[in-house]
Amino acid sequence: MSTLTQDELKTLVGQAALQYVVPGEIVGVGTGSTVNKFIDALATIKDQIPGAVSSSVASTERLRAYGIAVFDANDVAELSVYVDGADEIDPQGHMVKGGGAALTREKIVAAQSKRFVCIADDSKWVSVLGKFPLPVEVIPMAAQRVARQFETMGGTAKLRLKDGAPLVTDNGQHILDVTGLQIADPLAFESQVNNWPGVVTVGVFAHQKASVCLLGTAAGVKTVTF
Ligand code: 5RP
Repeated sequence: MSTLTQDELKTLVGQAALQYVVPGEIVGVGTGSTVNKFIDALATIKDQIPGAVSSSVASTERLRAYGIAVFDANDVAELSVYVDGADEIDPQGHMVKGGGAALTREKIVAAQSKRFVCIADDSKWVSVLGKFPLPVEVIPMAAQRVARQFETMGGTAKLRLKDGAPLVTDNGQHILDVTGLQIADPLAFESQVNNWPGVVTVGVFAHQKASVCLLGTAAGVKTVTF
């Protein structure tokens, strides 16, 4: 039985991810409470890197507060490493992401990175994706139509709210959270849903899956490569 809290596990994996940061190179940075631990750790070696490409306003603010330079994704051709958390990860390295509403920018930075290092506590490990409500960023005028399309798949989509109003993402769009799905073929599912008009990004990361997962467990950090 672990004596470590979930927060301590997040700290462990955030620190462990430092070994993947390439000195002298810009690093891709994700979003969320686990990534915040990584940013805290990154601050201790900030003199070894030129800076970061960030996947959200929240991460940008945290990086800048530490004096870490944040580059525009358009000004950087390719990144060696992208470090991000996940809401679910399966034994093939496919993930569900977007619990923090940053999935679109996360997928963009992941796509321009050679290696995706997923940092997660072991509560995120699943055999089949779909238990965590699937985040889908949508153009607001398409929300109800996309919700009905999920219904035909057996899913139930709910508009994500913040302070009683629809949550607005960093990109000015809305988020649907979809329950009741069993995502047996993540690659096909991601391609299918991303083709629906009005879908900006579906929170399945199969085309941009993890290369390695640093999983925080009671026995310490387990490294899983895919
Ligand atoms: C944000 C994300 C996060 O990586 C995901 O929600 C995990 O967050 P946390 O580390 O706080 O559990 O996809 O959009």
